[in-house]
Amino acid sequence: MEGSKKVLILGSTGSIGENTLKVIEKFPERFKVVGLVAGSNREKLQEQKEKFGVERTALYSEVGLEGIKKLIDETDFDVAVCAISGSAGILPTYWAAEKGKRLALANKESLVCAGNFITEVAREIIPVDSEHSAIFQCLVGEKKEEVDEIILTASGGAFLNRENLEEVKPEEALKHPNWDMGKKVTVDSSTLMNKGLEVIEAYWLFGLPVERIKVVIHPQSIVHSLVRFRDNSVKAQLGVPDMRIPIAYALSYPERLPLKGEELRLNLFGLNLTFLEPDIEKFPCLRLAYESLRMGYPYPIVLNAADEVAVDLFLKGKIRFTEIPELIEETLNRADFKPPEDIYEVAEIDRKAKELSLEVFRSWH
Ligand SMILES: NC(=O)c1ccc[n+]([C@@H]2O[C@H](COP(=O)([O-])OP(=O)(O)OC[C@H]3O[C@@H](n4cnc5c(N)ncnc54)[C@H](OP(=O)(O)O)[C@@H]3O)[C@@H](O)[C@H]2O)c1
Repeated sequence: MEGSKKVLILGSTGSIGENTLKVIEKFPERFKVVGLVAGSNREKLQEQKEKFGVERTALYSEVGLEGIKKLIDETDFDVAVCAISGSAGILPTYWAAEKGKRLALANKESLVCAGNFITEVAREIIPVDSEHSAIFQCLVGEKKEEVDEIILTASGGAFLNRENLEEVKPEEALKHPNWDMGKKVTVDSSTLMNKGLEVIEAYWLFGLPVERIKVVIHPQSIVHSLVRFRDNSVKAQLGVPDMRIPIAYALSYPERLPLKGEELRLNLFGLNLTFLEPDIEKFPCLRLAYESLRMGYPYPIVLNAADEVAVDLFLKGKIRFTEIPELIEETLNRADFKPPEDIYEVAEIDRKAKELSLEVFRSWH
């Protein structure tokens, strides 16, 4: 297997993890899977281990965080795909970054909550999120000082054209118009919190001030994001909405893999692309994300933690869809934490902010 890249996948049983394995399966001469980490799905992990002949695996429910750290420390890899969902991904992403190898980063929460610590230790981060991959691709060969603004596209989620969001049911929020993703990120797309988290992620990845990171609604999810330069040129990256494309790019950059399949090919004829301004009144989560960045560190950690609690309560039928931003806003207003001094304090603030959100929730009922 000389010459092939050794890949570690954190969150292998999820949507990004499985798509990563689909890409790798097509290029056995280029990639070798050397480690797999998952949360609790033992059967799927075992299946993947056998299919890809992987030596090292770790299941959080069996070995805990220490077991995951041990696997990361002891595995020799060239690229780590960081695709654990939620704040559970922060420490594993940080440990992988510490090894000085490439991160193919999907777990946005790790940059939202610990962008300063992770970018400090990481040698190379190639984003997997389709929007950030698009911006990264538009920036190749460009000078940072010539960038005017970056523009993240958002599909607008399931409720772009719906009124009366009070009555939204969990199963409705779990239907994304264009992308097939995990539950949390799908609900976040419907509230626009996903875009809010991506604004914070972009802030850490591309180092622009928050006022120069914009969001535009683009319901077709064909233009994955854009960069405007100081000469008023605008560059965009387009493609069908399929995560295998940005995943493959993050694995193989600066090369591009010959991805085959008609379903991956963008048909330009008949495309009808539209762009709209986001409605911040209808979707307050986007405003809250910008506010948390302006409030400064550690408020993005609080935003992210409160959102995780709120989405969970919503999916369990305990709060209304429209109470998701209300719970987050009240948690942000009540939070009073000092900035963390290291990555372990990030985890501590995340835990305390989740407790605080639950307190807010209990105070409502
Ligand atoms: N899906 C997308 O298209 C997409 C696009 C852009 C960015 N992202 C980001 O990528 C990340 C993953 O998203 P996803 O949609 O792939 O999520 P997902 O389908 O819910 O998968 C999550 C993965 O994380 C594992 N996991 C959960 N808790 C864990 C823990 N405590 N320790 C170790 N592993 C744990 C899960 O294992 P089990 O299956 O065993 O529970 C699963 O493998 C998220 O941060 C999301 O925002 C996703």
